Amino acid sequence: MAAPLIDPFQRAITYLRVSVTDRCDFRCVYCMAENMTFLPKKELLTLEELDRMCSTFVRLGVRKLRITGGEPLVRRDIMTFFGSMGRHLDSGALEELTLTTNGSQLERFAQQLADVGVRRVNISLDTLDEGKFADITRWGRLPQVLRGIDAAQAAGLRVKINAVALKGFNEDELPRITEWCAERDMDLTWIEVMPMGDIGNENRLGQYWSLKDVRAAYEGAYTVTDLPERTGGPARYVRLEETGQKIGFITPLSHNFCESCNRVRITCTGEIYMCLGQEDMADLRPALRNFPQDDRPLEDAIRAAIDLKPKGHDFDYSRQRADGQMSRHMSHTGG
Ligand code: GTP
Ligand code: 5AD
Ligand code: SF4
Repeated sequence: MAAPLIDPFQRAITYLRVSVTDRCDFRCVYCMAENMTFLPKKELLTLEELDRMCSTFVRLGVRKLRITGGEPLVRRDIMTFFGSMGRHLDSGALEELTLTTNGSQLERFAQQLADVGVRRVNISLDTLDEGKFADITRWGRLPQVLRGIDAAQAAGLRVKINAVALKGFNEDELPRITEWCAERDMDLTWIEVMPMGDIGNENRLGQYWSLKDVRAAYEGAYTVTDLPERTGGPARYVRLEETGQKIGFITPLSHNFCESCNRVRITCTGEIYMCLGQEDMADLRPALRNFPQDDRPLEDAIRAAIDLKPKGHDFDYSRQRADGQMSRHMSHTGG
């Protein structure tokens, strides 16, 4: 068996996030610019290359594979790729195959995802107000996403809602979103907005709503109990005793979770990013393309990249744009 991937800080890399496209049918304001230029299709890893890349990581000890984007379900023939990754679940090599999606295409794909072995999906939803939803996504339609959520649940997929906490935007919706998730037996995770993309710092800084305050809002309305468990992702969880519901908090700004980081990211062009909040990356495409019959150079390139994984991220709203804000868009690395 291949030696596992261990970084310089003795963290085992067992979680791979793979972006399969930079495209999306929405343009969430904190994620993309309105006039994004997308990559030409020929720049993207082919589905066969994605398969080889992911399979190599699985051989090197990755146990959790999350497919991201952009919006992963807008990539043509993506179900072929999911189907093919299902073999790693069947063999027991992979514990979880999952995705993070905006939900817009789930009505069409939920059942197929369940059929290949996906058990749960994370769906991004920041508001239950149709007008506000259209504003934050620039042109998304809420009813379409709600139908996608219904389809996912009907297919037996466990749904977790991801809401980016935005001051002055969804602060007033906290009780409504919480109750709505509880009624549908869905987990809910709040995420602190991260300073990424070239759309100006002022706005994002003004919208930053610390999850310490979100927690305080819950404590004002519910009995909140800390839970020890983690799902292998960055969230910390509490239970609301009144609803029995689990609420997650992803706090890159107010409580950095880098010491337990277990993940790396692959972009849709085959770059590996060792940290979401750092620019350190390596291009794995040459090893993939120049040696189509031999996985050894790819394995070596992956190990060399893991050796460069930094200790933690560099997000910091107290600093100014030049160093606190990253020009890379979230859609490039899939969150
Ligand atoms: P679970 O398996 O359900 O725990 O999922 P997850 O939280 O790992 O994945 P998801 O795609 O739902 O990510 C939710 C949010 O967490 C996104 O906004 C990600 O950008 C953010 N996130 C995930 N991993 C990291 C990380 O290593 N660093 C930072 N700063 N943010 C992360
Ligand atoms: N800060 C925090 N979360 C973000 N997401 C996208 N951009 C940002 C940002 N700048 C979230 C999406 C989705 C997940 C993949 O990342 O809402 O839930
Ligand atoms: Fe698309 Fe998700 Fe980015 Fe919104 S956050 S633009 S849905 S990739």
